[in-house]
Amino acid sequence: MIKKILKYFAIFLVVVASLYGIGRLSVVMYDSYKYVDRQPYLQKVSQNGVVVIWQTPKEELGCVYYGEKKLDKEVCEDKATQYHRVEITGLQKERRYRYSVDAASIKVDNLGRSFETLNDDVNRTQRIWVQGDSGNFNSAQQENYKAMMKYVGDDRKIDTWLMLGDNAYRSGSQKQFNKGLFNAFTEMLKRHVVWPVIGNHDARRWAFYDIFEFPINGESGGVASGSESYFSFENGNVHFVLLDSQTVDRDAEGEMAEWLKKDLSANQKLWTIVIFHHPPYTKGSHDSDSYYDSRGRMVQMRENIVPILEKYDVDLVLSGHSHVYERSLLSHGQYGYSDNFDAAKHVVQSDLHSYHKCNKKVSFAGTIYNVAGSSSEDSRGINPFNEPHPMMPISYFTSGSLLITADADTLKVEMVMRDAKVLESYMIMKSEKYCRAEQPNK
Ligand SMILES: [Fe+2]
Repeated sequence: MIKKILKYFAIFLVVVASLYGIGRLSVVMYDSYKYVDRQPYLQKVSQNGVVVIWQTPKEELGCVYYGEKKLDKEVCEDKATQYHRVEITGLQKERRYRYSVDAASIKVDNLGRSFETLNDDVNRTQRIWVQGDSGNFNSAQQENYKAMMKYVGDDRKIDTWLMLGDNAYRSGSQKQFNKGLFNAFTEMLKRHVVWPVIGNHDARRWAFYDIFEFPINGESGGVASGSESYFSFENGNVHFVLLDSQTVDRDAEGEMAEWLKKDLSANQKLWTIVIFHHPPYTKGSHDSDSYYDSRGRMVQMRENIVPILEKYDVDLVLSGHSHVYERSLLSHGQYGYSDNFDAAKHVVQSDLHSYHKCNKKVSFAGTIYNVAGSSSEDSRGINPFNEPHPMMPISYFTSGSLLITADADTLKVEMVMRDAKVLESYMIMKSEKYCRAEQPNK
């Protein structure tokens, strides 16, 4: 009798687990592939092209009109679809083009649409806006957006726009991407390409890599990666590397790491900025000392990927995930847990705000690690950590985003809060005169 009851109970459990699994899978697929209207946005910009993407409720043909002064050129689709993708080619580098999109079944907001192609002008000052964990549509997100626009004066002064993951809460569904990103930053999206990395919340559905299109063949600079999960692009004198710390192999000899080594060793740009979601050093809303936190991703990125970044003299590593602001000094060689930290060994330059580096690549010359995951963190004020990660002496609970200004010899980073005031800033200066003085103690 007991045997029979146990048997029926086991069958019952299997049926419940199967129904739950089928239900979950249905929800994930529905959220990932459900059609939503979407205004045109820009992707995969290069020195000579850009991709315009939008979505319409009906299958139809669309056209993009573009030009520098007049919209005198056009690219039209030849196959009716709901998922529109128009690639514009044959453009000139470092030019701003106006464009408009013709769609029958949605009203496209074409007012003030433009984009600028990438440039290789090493003397041009470049402004980079960096948002982390910005995907919550709330007052903090919108105030941080307005604060940055107020701080820079005009969105056209932003050259490059980065997102550090968790770009659409809570699950990265098509609907949530509209709410958390596409309907939240409408004016920015009309005039800028957004370059996001994937966060754990984005990865709960399968929409992220469908929504965004990245240069995997080196079209926008850097070594071809063959994967949308990791790739690089270059603008002005900055080499940008975007990594997926969520869904791909984070092994030191994995495909991402092997490509990273090739890409960084070929990099000739003065400045190198690497972004991925999971911070190698944090004691904020996540703990990089815990292998159980985020299933070891922070530990794996620190142990396996950070040594590669330092070997090839990456200047700045930006992450989110922790909804705080944390920053290291110019550091190297700290690949263990925080109790291994030794300032004498791991801090290259201990000034709080100003760092000097050789203008040629020097292995292990020092990197700044900056966590900036509070762009939709709905908190006010500035509260320093009681116990910061020892690598990250500048650590605050506050809401904001980063403005990076890169020019021919200085990289300046400012943390702009939701009231448009600057929490703190720091600079890395590069010159030949710092080459001899620099003696990394790694
Ligand atoms: Fe996260």
